[in-house]
Amino acid sequence: MKALYFNEFGTPDVLQYGSVPDPRITDTELLVEMKFIGLNFADIYRRQGTYHIKKNTPYIDGYEGVGTIIAAGINVTKFHVSETILFVDVPLANAQLVAVPENHGIKIPASIDFKLAASIGLQGLTADFLAHDLGQNKPGDNVFIHGISGGVGQLLSQMLTADGINVFGVTSTEEKQHLAIKQGAKKVFLRNSKWLKQYAGSFNTVYDGIGSTLNQSIQLLKHRGKVVFFGMAGGNPPAFNLIELLNQSKSILTGDLWDYLTSYSERKSRSQRLFGYFESQTITISAPTIFALSDGQEAHELLESGRSTGKILLRP
Ligand SMILES: NC(=O)c1ccc[n+]([C@@H]2O[C@H](COP(=O)([O-])OP(=O)(O)OC[C@H]3O[C@@H](n4cnc5c(N)ncnc54)[C@H](OP(=O)(O)O)[C@@H]3O)[C@@H](O)[C@H]2O)c1
Repeated sequence: MKALYFNEFGTPDVLQYGSVPDPRITDTELLVEMKFIGLNFADIYRRQGTYHIKKNTPYIDGYEGVGTIIAAGINVTKFHVSETILFVDVPLANAQLVAVPENHGIKIPASIDFKLAASIGLQGLTADFLAHDLGQNKPGDNVFIHGISGGVGQLLSQMLTADGINVFGVTSTEEKQHLAIKQGAKKVFLRNSKWLKQYAGSFNTVYDGIGSTLNQSIQLLKHRGKVVFFGMAGGNPPAFNLIELLNQSKSILTGDLWDYLTSYSERKSRSQRLFGYFESQTITISAPTIFALSDGQEAHELLESGRSTGKILLRP
């Protein structure tokens, strides 16, 4: 099969496209022929060698996608050949064929098209646990989202708005600002404008997936507020003063999606809640940007540049 792979960690030019051996499935695995593969920031961290990646020679990035089952192990009971499924936590996904453990498969309802499922899987399940497990905000709370028009940002902002929470955020361009307002945010600032001082001490929760903005996030909190820190799209977080946090009863929560997707039933119930937002048209997202898998270098460059809006998909 063809795959996007690399032999050493580094910049996007370590990525190569070519032939590698097909995966072999066990009795409880599905062999999936990929339709769309999700590209995520974690794939960049893995390519750079700063995040966990499955040992393989060569390394093959990617953990998310939608594809059709073309073979199933003899002990598989939950899925059948020819069914198209989503997965968000299976390694070696930047390839034509992926071996998916049955319990990691996620059924796609008939009302959700395959491209949409691939566009919302990992980022949507992330937004879901950030909002419902970590944030736990009440209607009327004020929350702030960095990178509000990114993939996770768009989904999180609309989930919180649907739950009656007042959403504020920051983004880099006027176009992204208009998109976030259209999706229900109360107020969206431009990154290079002077908004921080005015809004310091205003928010119950600040969602920070940028990292380098952590001290801003702490400043934006009310006393007893919390930063939900979930990623480093803008670089590693700076050191912060824990005693200053204590003096203002401010907290920092963190979370990784993989600690919330620990069983087939967790994947099922959480994905059903996510798909429900789209079935009721409570959430809409911008169209994904699609690259051929062979153009993976270009896709990595775009994601890393911060210029993308919403999901980037790779098509084998
Ligand atoms: N913890 C988890 O389980 C988990 C799961 C999935 C993703 N994540 C994390 O969530 C974050 C967002 O992921 P995503 O998939 O939504 O990516 P994305 O679609 O590329 O969105 C990231 C946004 O970050 C903003 N940004 C980039 N560089 C920045 C900088 N230097 N300063 C300020 N803002 C910057 C950009 O927004 P603007 O141009 O609008 O400013 C961009 O739209 C990443 O850190 C990722 O690792 C965590």
